[in-house]
Order: sequence, then structure tokens, then C-alpha cells
Amino acid sequence: MSARAVAARTVAGLVGDFHREPAYRGLAEALRVLITDGRVPVGVRMPSERELTEALQVSRTTVTRAYAELRDHGYLVSRQGSGSVASLPESRAFRGDHLLFPGDARADEIDLTCAAANAGPGILAAYERAVGDLPAYLGGSGYYPSGLPVLREAVAERFTARGLPTTPEQVMVVPGALSGVAIAARALGRRGTRTLLESPTYPNAIATLRQTGTRLLSSPIGREVADVADLLRSLDQVRPDLAYLVPDFHNPTGHLLSDESRERVAARLRQHGTVAIVDESMVELGLDGDPMPLPLAAHLPDAITVGSVSKPFWGGLRVGWLRAPAERMDAMVRSRLSLDLGVPVLEQLVTADLLRNGAPLLAQKRALLRESREAALDALAVHLPAWQVRRPAGGLSLWCELPAAHSTDLLPRAADRGVLLAPGPSFAPEGGLDRFLRVPFTQPAHVLTAAIERLAEAWKETLADPLGRGSSEPTMVA
Ligand SMILES: Cc1ncc(COP(=O)(O)O)c(C=O)c1O
Repeated sequence: MSARAVAARTVAGLVGDFHREPAYRGLAEALRVLITDGRVPVGVRMPSERELTEALQVSRTTVTRAYAELRDHGYLVSRQGSGSVASLPESRAFRGDHLLFPGDARADEIDLTCAAANAGPGILAAYERAVGDLPAYLGGSGYYPSGLPVLREAVAERFTARGLPTTPEQVMVVPGALSGVAIAARALGRRGTRTLLESPTYPNAIATLRQTGTRLLSSPIGREVADVADLLRSLDQVRPDLAYLVPDFHNPTGHLLSDESRERVAARLRQHGTVAIVDESMVELGLDGDPMPLPLAAHLPDAITVGSVSKPFWGGLRVGWLRAPAERMDAMVRSRLSLDLGVPVLEQLVTADLLRNGAPLLAQKRALLRESREAALDALAVHLPAWQVRRPAGGLSLWCELPAAHSTDLLPRAADRGVLLAPGPSFAPEGGLDRFLRVPFTQPAHVLTAAIERLAEAWKETLADPLGRGSSEPTMVA
């Protein structure tokens, strides 16, 4: 059977302008991205070398070497009578590291347990530039427990540009935002410390804060974006020592606190002497071009802020930062040294490059996310009209309210159809939320549409015959 083909001019249009130094590498990278993100679907026959050479107006050697590189890495396979067919390497490395459903993946599996996108174009080129900068560091020990000066400066500049004046000495580079949460919580919390979390919230932060032995208390967050009444009430009742807050395109709801809400929340935190750990993981993922409010820490000088390049660029970098008031930095560094001694130098160089030059890549990522968000919203409206969903102004996921509390029962049914999701209760610090389901829109639009069609079948079956049991397996959720 001959494979479906993609025309040379379509591929040339999708490839667009690629990195030319050297051209074959740039072309191979551009084609790899098209295949991994599904714009050139796996199984499709690629144009012949001659056709692509003509369509791209490059030398034949460029195309021959690009194809050879893709073949070497498993992105093209040659099939008798079908030419070169788009493929994915046999490695499962790009799949979610899911503890929930170990074992072999089905060929048509769609993993929506993690709200995290792939690297996208341009990340490999940033690595290549960073390798060029690396020799300057090889003469040293390579240990930078607070981070490379060049990266601390770039992070401080970004905070300052966003309206929160920051010096490099107030920045510590850490292996991801979650690590920043752990460092801050270990520095500030002890057994008996009262820590307030939003409900729902990011599951791994719940686990991290729980590990510190602090007493976790949760506050519902309002259904509407601007509604902080519940949070203010909880702050008055609990008077917590610590609060973990995600004010920017909150995971999972996508809520963005307005400037006015930030002022009100900050005033209440100050009044009760609560130290906030502010997680800004999603702050760069505004999708509608609206102006951003000031960072919460601009209203709250004592706050600890964490962020990372995982969501705007790539989770595989494992680079984030922690920003603290100068007088708290010593405590943060001590806490950090009990965990690790720093982040790999190469990844820090890549991150510094992306923070300074990555705006075009971020614009592309936002455009893809917008497309995926719309596809997911459209598919939900058509196939699951009884589910209530808001259109978030940014972030990576939709938070769906189901007409019945069966999110956990739905999961095995969805998994039977090859769709993996994290249930609502994973996001609940104190249980509940089985009426909710997070649907990340980090996959390409056509993949999400297919996932939601299958989810609708699974939902119909669940309503007809709820299992009354969910999975008790731990979920790896990002
Ligand atoms: C709110 C929030 N914080 C932290 C993280 C983890 O980020 P990192 O990869 O930087 O540790 C995530 C990932 O989903 C997140 O949503």
C-alpha cells in the first residue's frame, strides 16, 4: 500500500525560512519539528530529494544531507516503493514519563497528563550557540550554586523590565520552578507552619509543600478571574505563615489576577505577615496580547518569586530561577545547598541566550498554543456541550466543569481509547474536585480534536455505567 504524500511546495511553505549555517542542519531541524509537532503527520510520504530541492531553491546536497540526518535519527524511513516516509524515533523519550500508565504505549496514544509542549524550532540552534560560548567556562570548576552571572543578569533584567526592579544578587538559578518552590519552602517552613494553597493548584507543588511537613490549608479560587473574595476570606480565617500562589495563567484554571486583585491580596498578606511563594511559571504565556499586570512581588516586597523557561521555551532545559528580597538570599542559598550545587553550565548558557533573543520563538509558540486552544474549545463545544469551559487568556490548559462528579471514573475509559489525562482531584490540596478535568492544549490542534472526540465517547460510556473507582496510581502531572 503506498503512503499518503505531502507535496514539495507544502513542505517548503511549512519549512519557511530556516537556519543556514549550515543549511542542511537548519533544514533537517525544521523538518524534524514539523514531524514531531504533527504538521507533517507520521506515515506520510515526503517529497523526493529532487522535488524538495526545486521547491526550496537550495542545492541538492543540502536536501540529501538533511534527509540523511533525519534518517539517521529515525525521523525518516525509506520504504520500498514509497520513498521516504515521515517517522518518529523508536525511543519513548518524548512521551510523558507517566507513572500512571506504565508499559508500552499504543501507537495512537495521546498523552494529556502533562501541560507541556515540545521544544519547537530554534531551541537546537540556541544550544549550538551556547556550545560556542562554553569554552570560556571550561577553565573553571563549573560549580555556580547561585547561577552563572550572565544568566542572573538576564533574569534580573527581565524582572526589571516587567516593573519589578531586581539586581542579579537577588536571583538564584535553580533546576526549574518546582525546585524553586522546594528551596523556598524548606527555607521558610517547618513542622506546624501553616501554608495556604489555592484549590485547585499545581499538583507537584502540593506534594513539595507537603514534604516540608508544613500544615496545608486550601482556599477555593473563584470561578471568575477577578474574584478573590474566597482567597481574602481564607487569608483572614487561616492567617497563614506561608502562601503558595499562581497569579499568572494559573495551572489548571488559566486565571490571571488583575492589578487591582493583586493589590488587595498583597495588602491582606502584608496585614497577616504571610510570606508568599509566587509561582510565575506561566507568566510569558499570555495568548491574547493583553497588557500584563505588574508582578505580584511588586506589591509585596517580601515575596519569593519563582519562574522558569520550561513553559515558554522547553521543559527539557530544567532551568528556572528564584527571586527574593536581598535579606532573604542567604537563607535561600543555604536551603539550596542542602539539595544540589547548581544547574548545568550549558543549559544556563542556552537559557541566557533564550531570555535575550527568544522573543520570536515565544511568538511562534504562542501562535501554536492559540490555534490549539481554539481547536480544543471548538471540539469541546461540539462533542461535549454539557461541559462548562471558559476561554483562558493564557497558560496551557482548559479547566472543564463536568455535569457530574465522574472525572476519576472517566479516566480508565479514556485510557481504553488511548487518551491519558490527570483527574480533577490531582489538583486538590485537600481532596474533592472530581467534577473537574484539566485538558491541556499543548498538543497540535488536530491531535486535540481527535482526543476530545474519543473523550466524548468515554464520557458517554461513563455516564451510562460509572465505575465508581478511579486509579489509585500516582500521576506524573506537569
Ligand atoms: C504552576 C507550575 N509551577 C511549576 C511547574 C514546573 O515547572 P519547572 O519545569 O520549571 O519545574 C509547572 C509545570 O507544569 C507549573 O504549572
